[in-house]
Amino acid sequence: MDPYRNPFAPGAGSRPPELAGRDATLEAARISCGRAIKGRSARSIMLLGLRGTGKTVLLNEIGKIAQEEGLLVSKVESPERESLARLLYPEMRKVMRSLSGIQAAKQIANRGLKGLRSFASIFKIDIAGVEVGVEPEPGLADSGDLQYDLPDLFDVIGRAAQAAGKGWILLIDEVQYLSEADLSALIVSIHRMSQEGLPVLLVGAGLPQVARLAGEAKSYAERLFLYPAIGALDQPSAIQAVEKPIVDEQATIEPTALGEIVDRTRGYPFFLQEWASIAWNNAEGPEITLDDVSQSYAETLASLDAGFFRVRIDRLTKSEVQFVKTMSELGDGPYAMADIAKAMGRTQSSLGPTRANIISKGMIYSTDHGYLNFTVPLFAEYMRRQG
Ligand SMILES: Nc1ncnc2c1ncn2[C@@H]1O[C@H](COP(=O)(O)OP(=O)(O)OP(=O)(O)O)[C@@H](O)[C@H]1O
Ligand SMILES: [Mg+2]
Repeated sequence: MDPYRNPFAPGAGSRPPELAGRDATLEAARISCGRAIKGRSARSIMLLGLRGTGKTVLLNEIGKIAQEEGLLVSKVESPERESLARLLYPEMRKVMRSLSGIQAAKQIANRGLKGLRSFASIFKIDIAGVEVGVEPEPGLADSGDLQYDLPDLFDVIGRAAQAAGKGWILLIDEVQYLSEADLSALIVSIHRMSQEGLPVLLVGAGLPQVARLAGEAKSYAERLFLYPAIGALDQPSAIQAVEKPIVDEQATIEPTALGEIVDRTRGYPFFLQEWASIAWNNAEGPEITLDDVSQSYAETLASLDAGFFRVRIDRLTKSEVQFVKTMSELGDGPYAMADIAKAMGRTQSSLGPTRANIISKGMIYSTDHGYLNFTVPLFAEYMRRQG
């Protein structure tokens, strides 16, 4: 059918035509935003899930909701090996400047800008447009320890936002790439906001290991955040995600064809988008048949293999590839470290560094029971396809 009218949106962070199965999470976010603005205690949120499950899309959607609710919105993505101070500096500056334009918040925000000035110099952040005439304020955010300085700055933003009748929401994608110290400072800051009843929220998105990293950083992290699991869509939601966009375009899909997509993708959002998109293009229409869907399967796999899966493996070294290959040959996960070591003819401890590197690259994670699994759904099958 007409590729110009193809509603599907395979791609990292691409908004799906139908954001299925996430109503509860969006509602929880709306409530948190609304409560924060009203000065009520509000939970921050960590969206945790495997690759391609829709975390980034949700983060963006929550940003829109927050804006509607009257919060100032900052969104950043944590790249590997970038400091949180550097990442947040421009956002905090923007928010403070925007608040300093509101009469009721002006004084507090201007004090914040001074603090930010000290913060930038102590954390060696190059600032292009240095605040002219802004003198640093001694004692505010200038200890050089992020655990103290970040909560200080959040505090000023929170008070300025409160005075302005607004709030601030910080959206951070790929949270698992933050260092332990940075994650810890972030949690301490959010804890302070919650204790002081200030309208500042954090919504993070990342791989499942973040839950444990956060808990290890600060034991109270568990109560500080909501952790909605962002996983595969349940069957009714997966059906809706594929069928509704087709019907909205005045086309249809055979029930058996729909069932085939939903079953074989196991409801994983990225795979649903990819397959539905290719089936749409290949179908004569106006009905997408089981034949269309079946015949599109090979093309879908090829496209996923060359894109979604490939980019993950490309980031690994040879010995890391060998490690994940061995995992996949053991079947589908989770995998016991002892089994992997045995299959590789190595000791567990000698594999420790490799294991740690693959985890830090976000390719595998250690599950609750000390087992390992892939962060990419159906990755083991992909590896086995490579022979
Ligand atoms: N609720 C949903 N219903 C249908 N499709 C969805 C849904 N959420 C996301 N998608 C689709 O899934 C794909 C992946 O979404 P997204 O990039 O947000 O995932 P992610 O979890 O951030 O992945 P990664 O961990 O790789 O960053 C996109 O093509 C998006 O359109
Ligand atoms: Mg993402």
